[in-house]
Amino acid sequence: MDTEPRRLPVVNAATAAPLDLSPDELEDGIRRLRREKNAVILAHYYQESEIQDLADFVGDSLQLSQAAATTQADVIVFAGVHFMAETAKILNPNKIVVVPDLEAGCSLADGCPAPAFARWLEQYPGHTVVSYINCSAEVKALSDVICTSSNAVKIVKALGDQKIVFAPDKHLGAFVAKQAQRPDLVFWQGTCMVHETFSERRLLALMAAHPKAEVIAHPECHAGILRHATHIASTSGLITYAKNSPVQEFIVATEAGILHKMAAEAPGKLLIPAPPEDESCACNVCPHMRRNTLEKLYLCLRDLAPQVDVPEPVRVRALAPIQRMLEMSR
Ligand code: 13P
Ligand code: SF4
Repeated sequence: MDTEPRRLPVVNAATAAPLDLSPDELEDGIRRLRREKNAVILAHYYQESEIQDLADFVGDSLQLSQAAATTQADVIVFAGVHFMAETAKILNPNKIVVVPDLEAGCSLADGCPAPAFARWLEQYPGHTVVSYINCSAEVKALSDVICTSSNAVKIVKALGDQKIVFAPDKHLGAFVAKQAQRPDLVFWQGTCMVHETFSERRLLALMAAHPKAEVIAHPECHAGILRHATHIASTSGLITYAKNSPVQEFIVATEAGILHKMAAEAPGKLLIPAPPEDESCACNVCPHMRRNTLEKLYLCLRDLAPQVDVPEPVRVRALAPIQRMLEMSR
């Protein structure tokens, strides 16, 4: 048996010094650095399982912003994508917020640039701007209230009969419009590059092969998937449902990273990832989320870099709609 620890070639971007640490050494190092720097590691369910297992807190977007809003740590390490870390920084201007990879973006945030969004909003005077948390700080600053997939319906319902524009996810927007009975909602036409690749044709074949399986889906999926789902919820909502339901088999239509926690919470149940159209593509894995690795997590804790910063005037304007969401979610 090979007793030598596996060595990973890692390069610290800051110093170009190669790391020569085994996965165990990396994990021990991350725990030590977290203690030394009084850091908290927040991770999304779409992260690699070893990152989820090391994190102090794993959650959906709302739970992660709630955790960021209340942490006593000096340093927040955000194992997720850029808009999530940016939200943590907006809530904690005096804390250091670092990310394993500054390039971890999001097709929804990237597809809604603030200047274009500001121009688009000019067509809708008098409308309340509800923006999904998957957007940049600049877009948040142009918004009246932020929402996540777990509170979007509640927030839109709470706005009564106000005229509403919803950005940037048109699929989540359509789901919310249906649930809140607001067919007049105006949408920015953005999509999640992961959830839009799920194939209805292949889902139907999977359902036929597993007649006892229930389809559960994230509301970022398009209508062709959502129409087959018995339960539609945020990542944490899907995990709770799989855990508490008497059903033993699920086809899970969201990013495949969720299966790690879902399997732990619903042991013994059959969890089948929903298929993308292209059989040869791992399209149900978010390339942005998966830029984060244990090595980069170690390096960002060690070097306290790269840090996420938000210009103060933008931060102040973006804070108000985030706080409004947190208050409306209580
Ligand atoms: P939730 O974790 O809020 O369900 O959102 C999923 C997501 O799109 C993260 O990028
Ligand atoms: Fe963005 Fe979709 Fe990736 Fe989430 S899964 S970070 S919405 S691209």
